[in-house]
Amino acid sequence: MTLKNNQTFRDALSAFPSGVTIVSTTDEAGRHWGFTASSFSSVSMDPPLVLVCIANKADSHAAFVTAQRYAINILSQDQKDVAMHFARKGVDKFAPHGFRYGTGDNPHPPVLPGSMASLVCVARDVHEAGDHTVLIGEIQEVELCEATPLVYYNRGFRSLELETEDSLS
Ligand SMILES: Cc1cc2nc3c(=O)[nH]c(=O)nc-3n(C[C@H](O)[C@H](O)[C@H](O)COP(=O)(O)O)c2cc1C
Repeated sequence: MTLKNNQTFRDALSAFPSGVTIVSTTDEAGRHWGFTASSFSSVSMDPPLVLVCIANKADSHAAFVTAQRYAINILSQDQKDVAMHFARKGVDKFAPHGFRYGTGDNPHPPVLPGSMASLVCVARDVHEAGDHTVLIGEIQEVELCEATPLVYYNRGFRSLELETEDSLS
């Protein structure tokens, strides 16, 4: 089947279930930035690299392409409201959610407690790709939490039914 139009492309992408993340950083002026992203992927084990894609039109684009560090918070199913809040433009994103912020001694990016995992990354590469920019980061620190992941599929948030026993490890 050929790619008929943009809608066909969108429909195909919506057939791929993914997790949901909040990508967060603090700029040099101390301002916090963040957006909801499902484009997260692992890239390399050694070194431990991951990627996320940010739209060039995102208000936080300039902050992320110049950021030296950012966190990728993999959301649990209890964090759907945070996912929706960080997908909105022009709102005070950080106030209500209990993020943990860096200090002068320990200038880490904002980390969201209760996430499945928070990956603190050092920026390694930035690639322009069409109307998005690929951010590649090297993981420096990981914080894990026992929870059930939030899933995005067919344009909606879903819960995962943990029934399958098949495992690759
Ligand atoms: C489930 C979900 C996944 C999203 N994934 C991405 C993504 O991977 N990259 C992206 O740039 N925007 C993504 N968005 C849209 C952004 O979160 C949204 O445009 C946000 O307002 C951008 O923030 P900013 O413009 O305030 O910087 C996603 C939104 C939702 C609801």
